[in-house]
Amino acid sequence: MGLIDLHCHLLPGVDDGSPSMATSLKLAQEAVNDGVSHCLLTPHHLNGHYVNHKADVIKATDEFQAALNEAAIPLTVFPGQEVRVSDRVLPAYDSGDLLYVDEGGKYLLLEMPSGGIPAFAKQLVFELTQRGVTPIIVHPERNAEILDNPERLAPFLEQGCLTQLTASSYMGTFGKKIEALTTRLIEAGQGTIFASDAHALARRDYELNEGLEKLAQEFSPQLAEHYKKNARRLINGEPVQMNWKPLKKKRRFWLF
Ligand SMILES: [Fe+2]
Repeated sequence: MGLIDLHCHLLPGVDDGSPSMATSLKLAQEAVNDGVSHCLLTPHHLNGHYVNHKADVIKATDEFQAALNEAAIPLTVFPGQEVRVSDRVLPAYDSGDLLYVDEGGKYLLLEMPSGGIPAFAKQLVFELTQRGVTPIIVHPERNAEILDNPERLAPFLEQGCLTQLTASSYMGTFGKKIEALTTRLIEAGQGTIFASDAHALARRDYELNEGLEKLAQEFSPQLAEHYKKNARRLINGEPVQMNWKPLKKKRRFWLF
C-alpha cells in the first residue's frame, strides 16, 4: 500500500479544486507518481461559498473512481468533506449530511476560516466531541491567527482535536513563516498527519512524499512512519494518540 492522502480537492467541478475531469485525472496521476495509493476526496462544505452534500459527494466519487479505472490510474478514492466551522455544522450532523475521514463517523476534517478562529469554535468542538466525533483541524499552520499566536492551537488539542498539517506548508511553498510554524508544531508533537490539500493551482502540486522525506531527515524516519501510520489509523477509524507539549518559546535577544 502506498501513501494515504486524507485531504485533497481532486473532484472535478465541485469547489475551488479541479475545474474539469481532465485536470482531475492529471492530478490523480501526479498523486500516483508521488506514491499515493488512496485519496480521501474532501470538497469544501458549508464554507459560505460551497455546499457539497454527502449524497452528491458519494455520487461524484463513484463517477471519478470509474473514470480513474477507465484511464488505468491506480488510485482508490473515498468520499469526504472539509467542513468549515459554522453554526450549520451541528444541523448537518443531525440530518446526516456530513462525511467523515472513516466510515464509522469518528473523525471529521474541520476547517477554521483562514483569517482567524471564530469565538464559537471551542463550543462546536465540545459539541462534536460530546457526540463521539473527533475533529481534525486542517492546516492550522495556514490560519492567520495561529500564525501570529501559535499557542492558540493548544486549547483545541486540550479538547482532544487532532491536526492535519499540509505537506506543502512544510516544504516552504507558502513562504518561510508558514514553513517555520509547521516545523515548530511538528517539534512540539502538535501535528498528527500530513496531507496534500492538493488543488488545481500550480503552486499546490503533490508534495506529500517530499514532505514525509523531509520529516524523516529533519526529525526521524520513525516520525515519518508515525505520520503515515496515523493516516492509516484515521481512515480505519482506529484510535490515534497525540503526545504534544506546549510550543517552545522562540529565542529572543534580551537588552539590559
Ligand atoms: Fe482543503
